[in-house]
Amino acid sequence: MDSSQFNKDFFEFLQSCPTPFHTTKVIKNSFKRAGFLEIPENEDWNLENAEGYYCTRDDGTIIGIKLATDFPLERPWRMTAAHSDSPALQLKPKPLKSNHSNYQLCVEVYGGPLLSTWFDRDLGIAGRVTVLCKNDHLQTCAIDFKRPMAIIPSLAIHLDRNANKEHTVKKQKQLFPLICQTTDNEFSFDELLLQQVIAEYPDLTACKILGFDLFCYDTNPAAFIGLNNDFISAGRLDNLLSCFVGTKAILDINTVDNALLLCSNHEEIGSASFAGAQGNFLSAVLKRLMPDPILRSKLLSNSYLISMDNAHAVHPNFPEKHDPQHTPMLNHGPVIKYNSNQRYATTSRSAAMYKTLADEVNIPIQEFVMNNDLACGSTIGPIAATKLGIQTVDIGVPSLAMHSIRETTGAQDPYMLYQTISHFYSRSSLPQTAL
Ligand code: CO
Repeated sequence: MDSSQFNKDFFEFLQSCPTPFHTTKVIKNSFKRAGFLEIPENEDWNLENAEGYYCTRDDGTIIGIKLATDFPLERPWRMTAAHSDSPALQLKPKPLKSNHSNYQLCVEVYGGPLLSTWFDRDLGIAGRVTVLCKNDHLQTCAIDFKRPMAIIPSLAIHLDRNANKEHTVKKQKQLFPLICQTTDNEFSFDELLLQQVIAEYPDLTACKILGFDLFCYDTNPAAFIGLNNDFISAGRLDNLLSCFVGTKAILDINTVDNALLLCSNHEEIGSASFAGAQGNFLSAVLKRLMPDPILRSKLLSNSYLISMDNAHAVHPNFPEKHDPQHTPMLNHGPVIKYNSNQRYATTSRSAAMYKTLADEVNIPIQEFVMNNDLACGSTIGPIAATKLGIQTVDIGVPSLAMHSIRETTGAQDPYMLYQTISHFYSRSSLPQTAL
């Protein structure tokens, strides 16, 4: 495995994962192929049949587990966490409106996208749909039209002479993707969805649409950019990059300790949901894996979580936005993120452990702290650290244009993160720090 093969696989992953439901499905399938067994929350678990297991919640969050070969109930946990969702435009329950011989889609803003970047893009539609089947069962399935289905045209500059001076996007006025022209036949959105479900799941006998979570996404594939292919441009790098790295790393290793990967939905909207990191999914799974509360707290206090989410590289046009001492650059190694108010979970000690790991595989590290005059973002790191009582570091690859429909990172960055995380999972023991 080298960086170019790694990036090739990564680009395919990005293309297969337009929504958290697809990300979860793709990760689940790679676990299945590796012999991992599903442990559904609503069933009893038998943990003696395999080394690898996975568990999903609400179709958008997945936990992968690789148990220590020897004495798993006596071993600490090495965990990584990332989020499966990205900012997007989500279709409203009644998504169609007709307007001047066009049909347009009504959307809500999911999370915090850079809205100006969503105009004049080839937008696909994907997500999950719950259907009624002929045997009266309800079935939820992920669908993806896999082609440009809609576009939000900008207003021509001749009709808006201030367009290059003002960037404001009026969400209830301007965000209506154009989906088709009106014809004599009435256009039924449910019928369109039903046909897509039948095309993707011919065995289902789907006969009625009962609900959906559908999103617009950029259909253009990831690309290398630059004279020397130094950069990667793609949608949803935040945070599919970390999901991909975590999945590949946990699949590739033999572990002496227990290994876990969490790819969680709803981070972009604050994580407070059934499937989000503020919910009880991870702690409920860990309770079932380690039912004894004293043993659980002992093992978790010896465990370590690497929370992976992209970091802000310094933008060459806006260097003043960064603290001048902390200016991560693309292709210069993953970034350790610090915040004295614990918006990032990093402590000097958890950072020291990460530095040790990176150093052992010769991967450079960079350090980020927010400019004092700007509000600091957050990740699922502090939430997991708070809920589980586990030592956590927040890290991520440097990137530009975070939350744009297309974000930029360095072509070397994903593989550097992978090498570090792979080493973290496979090292003979966790770097020890005296408590
Ligand atoms: Co993120």
